[in-house]
Amino acid sequence: MTVACRTGRLAGLLAALALSFCAAAGAAAPAKPAHSAIASAHPAATQAGQDMLAAGGNAFDAAVAVSAALAVVEPSSSGVGGGGFYLLHLADGRDVFIDAREAAPGAASRDMYLGADGKPVEDRSTSGPLAAAIPGEPAAWAWLASRYGKLPLRQSLAPAIRLAREGFPMYARLQNGVRYNVDRFKQSPDAARRFLVNGKVPEIGAVIVQPELAKTLEVIANGGAEAFYTGSFGKALVAAVRGGGGIWTEADLAAYHVVERAPLVGSYRGARIVTSPPPSSGGVVLLDTLNILAGYDLPSLPPLTGKHLLIEAMRHAYRDRAEYLGDPDFVIIPVDQLTSPQYAAGQRASIRPDRATPSNVLRPIAANLADGPTTTHFSVLDHDGNRVAATISINLWFGSGWVAPGTGMFLNDTMDDFSVANGVPNAFNLVGADANSIAPGKRSLSSMTPTFVETDSGLLIIGTPGGSTIISMVTQGVLGWLDGQSAEAIVAARRLHHQYLPDRLMYEPGALSAEEIAGLKSLGYDLKEWSLRGNLQVITWDYASGRISAAADPRGFGAGLVY
Ligand code: GLY
Repeated sequence: MTVACRTGRLAGLLAALALSFCAAAGAAAPAKPAHSAIASAHPAATQAGQDMLAAGGNAFDAAVAVSAALAVVEPSSSGVGGGGFYLLHLADGRDVFIDAREAAPGAASRDMYLGADGKPVEDRSTSGPLAAAIPGEPAAWAWLASRYGKLPLRQSLAPAIRLAREGFPMYARLQNGVRYNVDRFKQSPDAARRFLVNGKVPEIGAVIVQPELAKTLEVIANGGAEAFYTGSFGKALVAAVRGGGGIWTEADLAAYHVVERAPLVGSYRGARIVTSPPPSSGGVVLLDTLNILAGYDLPSLPPLTGKHLLIEAMRHAYRDRAEYLGDPDFVIIPVDQLTSPQYAAGQRASIRPDRATPSNVLRPIAANLADGPTTTHFSVLDHDGNRVAATISINLWFGSGWVAPGTGMFLNDTMDDFSVANGVPNAFNLVGADANSIAPGKRSLSSMTPTFVETDSGLLIIGTPGGSTIISMVTQGVLGWLDGQSAEAIVAARRLHHQYLPDRLMYEPGALSAEEIAGLKSLGYDLKEWSLRGNLQVITWDYASGRISAAADPRGFGAGLVY
């Protein structure tokens, strides 16, 4: 396992002389926070992070402990067999983005999920080991611990190992995920052994033990990332994957590396936004959407007009996601252009105040589709002012649905986040193009958007799972916070979503009044009521009062705690 520090191929070349490390200077909070805080998707994971802070660790040690605990208690959404993005803020002011996105194996090829007829073969990119890219989580934990943490992995992985060995009670959200995966688990004996009882979905409260996963975590705790990616564990893992029909090699595992990238930094209404660069599309779409909105005085507009303009801004920004975004180490992405206020002004000029813009009148793209809904997010703030916004994933519910025999570890199906074929929608109806086609070693385009927002008066740490809806949910959370919403109100708010294609406005029940629904219809929108998949985990810090809040989305099972 190696580690690289990049800003993307083109930017890297141009900036090679200027950049000696890949961090951006950040605005410092006026004082250290009076409390630490953690919000995550499961109370046991929040507690694991708190245990590290109580033991003298910092936010980065807590991030390792929370991630590993989530791998055990929320195995539907992230895990050792997955990857993700860690946005860090160091108390000295630096912002750092750790890209631990899964990488395509060396034998991956552009058309690997197509049949003889040139069409995608159902389930090939979403189920079983062929759907899995090389995991990034173990490398991220080792990198966080050695570069930024204070505690050894043996200590920060201990709560997760205990949870895996002693078990945790089944809860409704996870049970729901299991219910949808019974058939897939029956194809994976190691998954069925731990997540089905006599072939049936376990009852709420049934204790889920994962001794094989405990052993895998111990391999990492004792031997670091090297022990996972190489040596006898790596060899056995590759043999298991190949035995199940996968294409990983020992060289693929050994070559995996996290990449530190410069976060994207933008501004909106005086706030400094620090967010995800490619291979996430989240930061570009978030900043472009806000740049378009910056031309309007949103708070002074009637709510219907404000919503119309927000939807139009999202439509334009998601369209460009589809055309331009991919892995910056493989494709040249015009990030500076896409996030510039001048570019947004051009997009804004085409938005009519009295009419929805049909997506098919925007410049067409060679269309592919991609993305995933489960995923998980957590936010951490420690006493020194270090902070983490981390969004991690194995893509769809339980990833590929396949546990590598003997490891207790669900493999991801993040290969499905590539554009698998032109013009063919994948699981989440996002449109993509050549920039996101499959290539060996490439990282698929993500929507994960861990983000910090700072003003003179406070701080927001925000992120969520939700596949393509992640970016629109984070955008609405940022706007809500700037409008004065509390952490609790942000996570509970009802939300809208538009992603260019399909050309349809999705809205949660209660997100729009009857008058707004009628008004948007008269502007030409096609509306559909929808249950969003979000699970926001938010921390806010008000500098004047010193008040710190941590809130978990009421749609989920999470816990936000301030210590
Ligand atoms: N797999 C979800 C995402 O990366 O956007």
